[in-house]
Amino acid sequence: MNEMSTPERRPVEVVKTVNGLEKVVLREIHGCSVEVYLYGAHVTSWKNEHGEELLFISSKEIFKPPKPIRGGIPICFPQFSSLGPLELHGFARNRLWTFDDDPPPLPPDIANKVFTDLILRSTKDDLKIWPHSFEYRLRITLGPGEDLMLTSRVRNTGTDGKPFTFTFAYHTYFSVSDISEVRVEGLETLDYLDNCQKMERFTEQGDSLTFESEVDKIYLSTPTKIAVMDHEKKQTFVIRKDGLPDAVVWNPWDKKAKAMADFGDDEYKHMLCVEAAAVEKPITLKPGEEWRGRQQLSVVNKLLDA
Ligand code: BG6
Repeated sequence: MNEMSTPERRPVEVVKTVNGLEKVVLREIHGCSVEVYLYGAHVTSWKNEHGEELLFISSKEIFKPPKPIRGGIPICFPQFSSLGPLELHGFARNRLWTFDDDPPPLPPDIANKVFTDLILRSTKDDLKIWPHSFEYRLRITLGPGEDLMLTSRVRNTGTDGKPFTFTFAYHTYFSVSDISEVRVEGLETLDYLDNCQKMERFTEQGDSLTFESEVDKIYLSTPTKIAVMDHEKKQTFVIRKDGLPDAVVWNPWDKKAKAMADFGDDEYKHMLCVEAAAVEKPITLKPGEEWRGRQQLSVVNKLLDA
């Protein structure tokens, strides 16, 4: 279906976008919605029941492979950042995923949820740069209400008897009113690796995080719940995570923003990445083994603590 045609209010719909890419639209009964590109299995939109966008997408984004999409929720796999031999954040975010028509069962879903199942398998070309056979299944679930859940299952499908190791992140870009009005709770007093200071290890002070300059930190072994509070909007995003011990906090600030072709000069003021991740201790899977990593995002219209 063309994006210009009137969509029926079906709970799950596949739409062709301008560049010939396909996206899945999930709609929940109260009017919340989520959009997921098959390119990268990339969530590009998450709207509440009033149709307000909760994720940041750069106005400079052109949705044209092989460039990864700037904003939304990129999947960083099988490598987070440049901590390995692969391109920055691995290759899953710029591969074409397909629908997973026969996913192995997950715990039964309760009413008022809509979901889609996507899959990525290693291709011959991928095996040349990362010589490990895998199956990566991603379920994206919307509801109840505006809750957005991403469940990743990665399996080692190799027949060579060898284990493989990977790092991972759900690189979520939250839309915020003004970065100077944002506070993050749940990461105080933790150790972090500072990517602005050659990955040196530091300990965070006792206060919740606020933002006045570039930040690129990997917080280690964090609680499973983190809160991102937007004081101007009086709104709190709550991130709950499972199987993902670390959390990355990133904002490029003004200089780096100017250096990024797919990012507006002032857009750093309206986004913050808080990323459920497994970085410090890479995950190892023996042949036949499966790993699960889950992120659940909720939004509340008041200021909540973590
Ligand atoms: C963050 C990293 O997760 O992603 C940063 O910690 C990186 O170091 C940022 O700059 C953006 O990466 P990219 O590849 O999407 O420009």
